[in-house]
Amino acid sequence: MSKMAKLELDGKVYELPIVEGSEGEKAIDLTRCVELGGTKPGDLRAKTGCITLDPSLGNTGSCSSNITFIDGERGILRYRGIPIEELAEKSRFIEAAYLLIFGKLPTSLETHMFSQMLENHELLHEDMKFHFQGFPPYSHPMAILSSMINATGCFYHDKIEHYNPDTFKDLAAMLLSQVRTIAAFSYRKSRGLPIIYPDPKYKYTANFLHMMFSLPYKEYEMRPEVVSALDTIFLLHADHEQNCSTSTVRTVASSQASLFASAAAGVCALWGPLHGGANQAVIEMLSDIHRSGDDGTRFIEDAKKKDSGKRLMGFGHRIYKNYDPRAKIIKAKCDEILNSMKRSDPLLDIAKKLEEAALQDPYFVERRLYPNVDFYSGIIMRAIGIPVEMFTVIFAIGRTPGWIANFKELAEDKTTRINRPRQVYIGQTLSPYTPKQDRT
Ligand code: ACO
Repeated sequence: MSKMAKLELDGKVYELPIVEGSEGEKAIDLTRCVELGGTKPGDLRAKTGCITLDPSLGNTGSCSSNITFIDGERGILRYRGIPIEELAEKSRFIEAAYLLIFGKLPTSLETHMFSQMLENHELLHEDMKFHFQGFPPYSHPMAILSSMINATGCFYHDKIEHYNPDTFKDLAAMLLSQVRTIAAFSYRKSRGLPIIYPDPKYKYTANFLHMMFSLPYKEYEMRPEVVSALDTIFLLHADHEQNCSTSTVRTVASSQASLFASAAAGVCALWGPLHGGANQAVIEMLSDIHRSGDDGTRFIEDAKKKDSGKRLMGFGHRIYKNYDPRAKIIKAKCDEILNSMKRSDPLLDIAKKLEEAALQDPYFVERRLYPNVDFYSGIIMRAIGIPVEMFTVIFAIGRTPGWIANFKELAEDKTTRINRPRQVYIGQTLSPYTPKQDRT
């Protein structure tokens, strides 16, 4: 017998089952509401005429999922049950992607076969090259990325469908492989550089660096520590349950749009500075602080004032009210990569100073604002030579497995219905149409 929540409304009592997740999270199920003494369950609205109001959805579970677990109070993140710290230490991005999408760590044979699929798909349709030429040189690579992921649907229209279990693995490999090729091509386009084709001798992340930085007459010098740092960034971004972009992907997918159309929408949602765009915003903020001669002290004061229009970018999170576990890993990687490259970065010094100050400042302490994944990732990317406008694109490559895994989960769920929230209308009540001559 499941536990019930009781709701009293207009003199009637309704019971709503409490659903409990595998880690003890509780939710009130609004789809199985029963009037006390009654037997037939139904939607809350159908039974009571009421809906729930939760703008920005902070209290709403939009699905049940078995992909990723987050405990924001304790700073825990796990992919399919495995702690992020363990994956960052022992796994690689593509293995973690497989884990997220297919629910298990791959065997050696599965790894080999999946790598083969990624390799088979790494080239774009040759005609897609001409689309890159059509974008103006100052285009933001996120705009190119989302357009080109969607355009893939035109070139492979016979392959790309909503969901077919027999072909899904191949389609997932295609998206995962091509998102990286499109990302690299969009960078080359934005710099007026010739396109470098993927080279099958490289694995996923190294191949991306090759396409980004090799020249027709000079191959990029592959440094294992650089490949490893970028691979870790991809892995740490691979999924984060129902964040803005993933829930966008799920919403689009719920209309039975294709995987590529859904992922293109995910890229758009990720672009904003309050989501994936924060990694770019962090470096811009640190650079501004550096240029102004401030050591961060003045900026922290500004970030606390509501009317200053400033926020400490890379700080705060809707879910984490504790240190983001990914930020801890990235911070350590940051020191590691700068040491191994024998480089220092004044922006890292400012970032550390800002963090130290914020973690002692009552404003940030009371609001439980801690560094998030974006706070240090940009410093690593700068060290690698990735330009700031590509930071959110790197995030998008990393997040692709999470989008694919959520798409698959939704498509395989027989209870899936189209996402269609309701609203409380607060506008004008019934009004007559005013002819033009009588309008003021
Ligand atoms: N700097 C200063 N104040 C902040 C910050 C910040 N970075 N973040 C939150 N606050 C304050 C808000 O002003 C608010 O104060 P108030 O209660 O006095 O009004 C309080 O903390 C709560 O903030 P909300 O905006 O209500 O929190 P919400 O959960 O809606 O937003 C968000 C979370 C968007 C991440 C926010 O913390 C933020 O804007 N951070 C900076 C941008 C950023 O780093 N985004 C990346 C998120 S992680 C990711 O997508 C990978």
